[in-house]
Amino acid sequence: MNQPQLRTLAVDIGGSGIKVMVLDVEGNPLSDRQRLKTPHPATPPQVIDTILTLVKEQEYDRVSVGFPGVVQSGVIKTAVNLHDDWLQYDLATSLSQLLSKPVKVANDADIQGLGAISGNGIELVITLGTGFGSALFVEGKLVPNLEMGHHPFRKRETYEQQLGRAALEKHGGKKWNVRLETAIAHLEHLFNYNTLYIGGGETKQIKFALPAKIKIIPNVIGLLGGIKLWTS
Ligand code: BGC
Repeated sequence: MNQPQLRTLAVDIGGSGIKVMVLDVEGNPLSDRQRLKTPHPATPPQVIDTILTLVKEQEYDRVSVGFPGVVQSGVIKTAVNLHDDWLQYDLATSLSQLLSKPVKVANDADIQGLGAISGNGIELVITLGTGFGSALFVEGKLVPNLEMGHHPFRKRETYEQQLGRAALEKHGGKKWNVRLETAIAHLEHLFNYNTLYIGGGETKQIKFALPAKIKIIPNVIGLLGGIKLWTS
């Protein structure tokens, strides 16, 4: 059945902020973006409480959630930057019961990618925020839960340890930029991508020129991409 008025609530759970926005069937915003700080400790009840506060005034028919960890069939498998109580937590089922709406949950970088890609060739996405997110697409098809962030990068540290927000704050933008250029060179040799998309709040720290096949994506794509969980 064609339901042109169907409203999708997009939720983006991040290490520092939780954001929501209502989208139309095409993925265009129907509401302003609302944001609250991620609570600490970021346990399931605390985070869910924050989501419930954010959505109180919203009208919607279904929900898409981006989560900063590995997600399989709505169940959380890793949550490095939130809390270990998330492990094995069935976020899709529990949120669906609380909101009385159907809920789909996917990795946050996967959702950013779904909102950004063109569908042509090998497209890689990395996100630079609290954590280091990554997503891989082959001719538009997602390889879910690519976790480059926790893969060794250099000096016995992972991509996230070298390029996450904590490293940026500790070592400063200059070093972080040099590291990012090196990381991009590694990723190009590893994936031979046609396009690399870079998203996340820290893209504003990038100080070097990017080649044409690397594109910066705006942060709001982390919400707008949520429509694709229901339409693709
Ligand atoms: C998580 C990823 C997530 C990324 C960005 C990493 O620590 O393991 O799943 O996409 O942070 O939030």
